[in-house]
Amino acid sequence: MFKQATVHRMMKEEEHAYLFQYGITSGLWEFREELAKFLSARYGEKVHRQNLILTCGATHGLQMILTTILHPSGIIFIEEATYMIALDMFKQFSGMKIVTVPTDSEGVDVAAMEKIVRKEKSRGSWTMTEGKPFWAMFYTIPIFHNPTGVILPKSKQ
Ligand SMILES: Cc1ncc(COP(=O)(O)O)c(C=O)c1O
Repeated sequence: MFKQATVHRMMKEEEHAYLFQYGITSGLWEFREELAKFLSARYGEKVHRQNLILTCGATHGLQMILTTILHPSGIIFIEEATYMIALDMFKQFSGMKIVTVPTDSEGVDVAAMEKIVRKEKSRGSWTMTEGKPFWAMFYTIPIFHNPTGVILPKSKQ
């Protein structure tokens, strides 16, 4: 999260027009501004457009996470059954380790997952790298899970 003053400075910089140039990498700011307003109203707390990135679908977003903020030898926790295209993509990042967490009829088994995450973290086989702040991620599909269709109950969220 950015400080308020930083956000204002970034907003001003973004609003410059760049004639004959490609658009802003993170997506058209006018759109992100409207999306930020919509999300702020829905969440009941301020969302800044600087914290939003426009992607070409969920798959693009996932690919961006894998290539930017996750450590190259990081861990990807996944549910026992998961979206096959995401799994194919994870396998392409050969330095990363895929670790399965058990699920039941209500989605991920949170208690079992906690133990698995602790165990993996204690192994500490990664080293901190500039600009790669995360050692692990959890790929989950909490709503209308593909392929099981399960919706994670509120008690597990
Ligand atoms: C869990 C999940 N993620 C991503 C996708 C594909 O999304 P997109 O086309 O936005 O990349 C699908 C499509 O079925 C999906 O089920």
